[in-house]
Amino acid sequence: MILAGGSGTRLHPLTRITNKHLLPIYDRPMISYAIEALVLAGITDVMVVTGGTHAGEFLRLLGNGHEHGIGRLSYSYQERPGGIAEALGLAERFVAEEPVLVMLGDNIVERTFRPTVERFDVQGLGARIVLTAEEDPLHLRHLGVPEFDDEGRIVRIVEKPEDPPSHYAVTGIYCYDPDVFRVIATLEPSGRGELEITDVNNYYVDQQTMAYDVLDGFWGDAGESIDAYYAVNDFVRENGANKG
Ligand code: TTP
Repeated sequence: MILAGGSGTRLHPLTRITNKHLLPIYDRPMISYAIEALVLAGITDVMVVTGGTHAGEFLRLLGNGHEHGIGRLSYSYQERPGGIAEALGLAERFVAEEPVLVMLGDNIVERTFRPTVERFDVQGLGARIVLTAEEDPLHLRHLGVPEFDDEGRIVRIVEKPEDPPSHYAVTGIYCYDPDVFRVIATLEPSGRGELEITDVNNYYVDQQTMAYDVLDGFWGDAGESIDAYYAVNDFVRENGANKG
């Protein structure tokens, strides 16, 4: 699943006139990178969740997906930006009893996360998330940060911590077993009125069925700020993205 809804307020006013995931990153609309990343990871059955006023443009860009290497492309529409976990919930019937990988449509990676997909296939049950190493504590304060025990297992994920418990951040790449839809159904909206993906992840942490990998190479969230958006553009222009 690729999530391409939300409000994109941090990129206002650019996102007042279009959906964030249609903005250019170097020579292509942002969402093209997520599509390419999934195909490179061996995933060809894809659902795009979008929302807001420009949903039709995704169809114009991606069509039936075949040109992009997708076997079956489905679309869903989120009525209001009710959170990442709510958007994922829209895929319940699409996913049925299969495992699912979720990628946030504003995330850009330098290298493939195919190893994560292969390991989750073997893992079967539970969840598996992709982390990125991040040394800057100021940046970590805006992200989800895992805390580890002595054996390197995640004991909890803290959202936007004042005092980051590690030098890793949770990226927007998550694998779940089909149980995730039952978990989403139990969530209560957070203070900002959204169903939070960190609550889903902490459910799996509590069940001791959460695994993780650390991503190789660059990871960027192009929706974090205008400066982050340009930093991601500069990186991709210089180095490319989605390398095998
Ligand atoms: P965010 O960047 O957390 O939220 P946002 O896109 O609404 O932006 P802002 O905070 O600046 O207002 O969302 C991360 C990704 O998840 C992004 O690619 C959009 C997607 N998303 C949805 O699909 N539905 C939602 O309800 C939300 C909140 C996000």
